[in-house]
Amino acid sequence: MKRTEIIKIDPDNPDIHEIKRAAAIIKNKGLVAFPTETVYGLGADGLCADAVDKIFLAKDRPKGNPLILHIASPDDMPQVAKEIPPIAKKLIQTFWPGPLTLVLPKKPHVPYQVSAGLPTIGLRMPDNIIALTLIAETGTILAAPSANISGRPSPTNAKHVVDDMWNKIDLILDGGSTSLGVESTVLDLTEDPPRILRPGSVTYEDLTDVVGEVQKPLGGQEGKLSPGQSYQGLKYTHYSPGIPFFLVEGEPQAVIRRIQKEAGKYRDRAEKTGIMSSEENKEQYHGYADIVKSLGPKGDMTQIAANLYRVLRDFETSGIHILFAEGYSEAGLGFAVMNRLREATKGHIIYA
Ligand code: TXA
Ligand code: MG
Repeated sequence: MKRTEIIKIDPDNPDIHEIKRAAAIIKNKGLVAFPTETVYGLGADGLCADAVDKIFLAKDRPKGNPLILHIASPDDMPQVAKEIPPIAKKLIQTFWPGPLTLVLPKKPHVPYQVSAGLPTIGLRMPDNIIALTLIAETGTILAAPSANISGRPSPTNAKHVVDDMWNKIDLILDGGSTSLGVESTVLDLTEDPPRILRPGSVTYEDLTDVVGEVQKPLGGQEGKLSPGQSYQGLKYTHYSPGIPFFLVEGEPQAVIRRIQKEAGKYRDRAEKTGIMSSEENKEQYHGYADIVKSLGPKGDMTQIAANLYRVLRDFETSGIHILFAEGYSEAGLGFAVMNRLREATKGHIIYA
């Protein structure tokens, strides 16, 4: 069995000696978890097939789900991308470093494990000093999925990584909580107009402002999605808290009444129930559930996104038997938040 080490790193001024040590582990085909602005990543040398194999093993990740490659500078793109269309340059200028992953045709030397056999790669430059320094110090390109066991909520702090990855990886760089809390937007530039394959922290509106027309993800059975996206649990389960989880969508007052009714029903049967509420509605659920946790104010999707995975994980260890969540508007960041909530419920959606 591997022994995992964890070290605290100052996210604003990382100790270069510690980063160099982490980089050496990666160059030696090891695995290092590190913070990005979205969620913690599990990094390995993305140009080394043996190292990439270890990621799939540690996460118990299906081989058909490709990994995002992380670079420290747009200058490194030609190492792995066959073509960089003008639209990519425009997007990079606006959104990099940042939570936008671009899907581009790949160069043949990128291990097939990274792209899961696809002719493309997902590529991004994260907006986090620890991540950027680490990538630069390795001198290579890092394959880095979220540092959770496959199917579980992504880690937004080092404790989440410890919970999922202890003694499965070499090192955890603890740089505190991530700021955004939902993953990058995956945008396919091999389609014209480009298509969002996974909604994320860069919103649909942000993208259309810069490039005009952008296509939204298709439903699961019609075809094109990021291989890791399932739409209502059709392919891989995702972001799931490991307890039965129901999302209630609809007109705001109807949602509250329906959650009260459903949660109350389980509570009457002496099942321990949880409700994931917005800050405004918290009091409405008093007496209907054993545990009510707030994600933040409805009007502040940034806060809701930042808290989502942590609250899901908190519920998981709280001893409840069943969890209900309110739906949100799909404008802006709400599109990504609702995508993750729907995935986390594995298709258990109630229309109020
Ligand atoms: O914010 C993020 O993107 C985080 C941090 C660590 O960078 N990473 C992350 O990686 O969320 P992961 O592996 O959990 O999710 C990667 C997503 C999956 O849905 C995968 O299918 C998609 O990106 N993806 C990767 N390469 C792709 C490709 N060539 N074509 C289509 N989708 C791709
Ligand atoms: Mg993931």
